[in-house]
Amino acid sequence: MTIQPPQIQTGNSILIIDFGSQVTQLIARRVREAGVYSEIVPFNSAEAAFARMQPKGVILSGGPASVTDEGSPRAPQAVLDSGLPILAICYGQQTLCTQLGGEVEGGHAAEFGRADVEILKASPLFDGFWQVGGQYPVWMSHGDRVTRAPEGFEVIGTSPGAPFAILADEARRYYTTMFHPEVVHTPDGAKLISQFVHKICGLAGDWTMAEFRNTKIADIRAQVGSGKVICGLSGGVDSAVAAVLIHEAIGDQLTCVFVDGGILRLNEREQVEELFRNHYNIPLVVVDARDLFMDGLAGVTDPEAKRKFIGKTFIDVFEAEAKKIGGADFLAQGTLYPDVIESVSFTGGPSVTIKSHHNVGGLPERMNMQLVEPLRELFKDEVRALGRELGLPEIFVGRHPFPGPGLAIRIPGEVTRERCDVLRLADAVYLDEIRKAGLYDEIWQAFAVLLPVKTVGVMGDGRTYDNVCALRAVTSTDGMTADIYPFEAAFLSRVATRIINEVKGINRVVYDFTSKPPGTIEWE
Ligand code: XMP
Repeated sequence: MTIQPPQIQTGNSILIIDFGSQVTQLIARRVREAGVYSEIVPFNSAEAAFARMQPKGVILSGGPASVTDEGSPRAPQAVLDSGLPILAICYGQQTLCTQLGGEVEGGHAAEFGRADVEILKASPLFDGFWQVGGQYPVWMSHGDRVTRAPEGFEVIGTSPGAPFAILADEARRYYTTMFHPEVVHTPDGAKLISQFVHKICGLAGDWTMAEFRNTKIADIRAQVGSGKVICGLSGGVDSAVAAVLIHEAIGDQLTCVFVDGGILRLNEREQVEELFRNHYNIPLVVVDARDLFMDGLAGVTDPEAKRKFIGKTFIDVFEAEAKKIGGADFLAQGTLYPDVIESVSFTGGPSVTIKSHHNVGGLPERMNMQLVEPLRELFKDEVRALGRELGLPEIFVGRHPFPGPGLAIRIPGEVTRERCDVLRLADAVYLDEIRKAGLYDEIWQAFAVLLPVKTVGVMGDGRTYDNVCALRAVTSTDGMTADIYPFEAAFLSRVATRIINEVKGINRVVYDFTSKPPGTIEWE
């Protein structure tokens, strides 16, 4: 399936040209936090995006290449010819300076981490928070450096390792930094980016969720017309928000399908029914496919085989239900912006498949449907903000992510009904304690895993021989990397005691101390 660019057409926006930095997404975050819509596009398709978006300003990201290398990426000439303001960060600074006649040299000692920038000259870029003569902490990460500024540029900030820390051409409104303002380790970086988009590009900062909601409702109506839309609900926040938004746009032309394969969390099905049927009155088909899933999972122990079976069976069930309601012209999905951004690859070649993530890929072609993806422009926390705007209860909006293959990939070894029941209860106790301790929102994801290991224990006067349960909790911003959540020992011991006392079938609880990498968040 080809990935289409996001559909918002707005001149009141910022174009971010990606040269492959690990932190480019953060630039978009900072611009949006300043109330301005922004899109990230790879450098090699930036020219077309620039023409389509007609932005009010451009930001050039950092990146791993060296401008001194043959064939290294450049900013489109059309951007330089447009007269629009540019903020160029790290590699962006180097390519902009090179393209405008300056010089960049490689081979300097690489500088990583914290540095202090001394301000040499006042500028609208930091007017109001950085004063001439002051020193301010920033975060550097670069090897090459500019050695000669292009004509018209002036050094307005410097640091011991980066003589051209901030280089600007005020007349052309070109601002370049050797450091990364987008990361939190540059404490005033968000202000700097905000100042660039408001003061220098003249954007108002009125991009709000209320506005997004109205724009999207109009878009959905225009796309769908009088067609029928079907939406698979997973119980997670993305599909729920997509469904509620689409229903607001087209009412009962939307039907939602929720498949219970026996691998959901405790009370999840009831919560979805309550929300969609009773709260929103959205047409909902709940399919009890527990036997189909459990029978098919019998004897399957390989993680990829589990994932493939679940993905395929989900599609089969979904397709059968769609036929029953007379088919649909559109399939709604809760695809998010991080899934849409084309990644910039300098190494080429496909990346290794660590896990085949379960989604509904293949379904639109098979059923001859077009996609409706109203969340394609949003980051996860923006989806949560939209959910709140639409009045979704906090229990849905603030929920930890839950994988498509559900509890099946939290039960290493064979998945059975009994093992799912045991895990469901242990997981519910764990999350109950997390909520009671007020920690739920500090954690990206917390869940229990049921291990295929039995150990000996003693309860009362008797010997037990039962299953081990592992607890996992991580912090993360996007699920790509993760750190373990450092619970207090007393908390973990309280959870362990409750699980062993309340969940029949578990007599030992352990805590998973593995970060990602080298571990993954889920166990399979
Ligand atoms: P891993 O285990 O790869 O997980 O570190 C990263 C994030 O992705 C979620 N995850 C999935 N989500 N379908 C999904 O919708 C899947 O098949 C799937 N597998 C993992 C996982 O819960 C974590 O948030």
